Amino acid sequence: MKCMRESKQSYDDFLQSLLERLIQSDGTTDPSLSEESLTMNEVKGIMLEIIAAAIHTTALTAEWGIAELLKHPRCVTRLQQEMEEVLGDKKGQLIVEADIAKLSYLQCVIKELARLHPLIPLLLARMSSQECEMGGYTIRANTIAFVNVWAIGRDENVWEHALEFRPERFESTKDIDVKGHHYELLPFGSGRRICAGLPLAMSMVSLTLANLVHCFDLELPQGRLLSQ
Ligand code: HEM
Repeated sequence: MKCMRESKQSYDDFLQSLLERLIQSDGTTDPSLSEESLTMNEVKGIMLEIIAAAIHTTALTAEWGIAELLKHPRCVTRLQQEMEEVLGDKKGQLIVEADIAKLSYLQCVIKELARLHPLIPLLLARMSSQECEMGGYTIRANTIAFVNVWAIGRDENVWEHALEFRPERFESTKDIDVKGHHYELLPFGSGRRICAGLPLAMSMVSLTLANLVHCFDLELPQGRLLSQ
């Protein structure tokens, strides 16, 4: 692999910033970056983590969004009405990040997606640092615990009509967000290990779905209407 350092070019992207820190085959690194130098295996590991943690999760959440919207045309209609009302002057233009905060029903759709289709269903593993009592059980120190957010999202004791895709449920519970404070909705985890890319992920999923709905009429082939 040819390092950009050799060709004296500089690019402002993530992979390039890693390659600039790469230790060369002769063991040298850029002196200005020597404290942050990386081996090729480290570069590969970081890239793999980014693909798995950032790109795959975001793309699959958007894909679930398309699937749910195809099954629920009334949600597509509501999204399009909201865009028409709030961003009426955007005809023929793409929706940008600054528009997203104005689209409250879109936010409900994203939360509903996160509830039913959390991309990391058991979050990252935790280990108890000391013995504690939880729900009548004694959890010993050093126990590895998984939080099943997929099951919480589908629990009828927590959510009414839990298995149905109903973004409207979040209109009456606007204070519930996905930032790790509300334990019934933890698609990005919580606490110190909460998803480091949460704001980027929310922007990307919102922008992707918003622009798809804004620019296209999403529908299944004729006669394949699954629900209203
Ligand atoms: C819809 C998209 C995404 C979902 C559903 C998601 C979900 C998660 C979840 C559940 C965790 C574990 C949190 C915990 O156990 O408490 C996590 C961790 C992480 N996520 Fe995301 N993520 C998404 C997108 C991204 C993006 C775009 C990035 C980076 C640009 C990212 C970077 C990370 C990193 C670095 C961690 C590990 C944090 C740590 O262990 O300290 N994620 N993510």
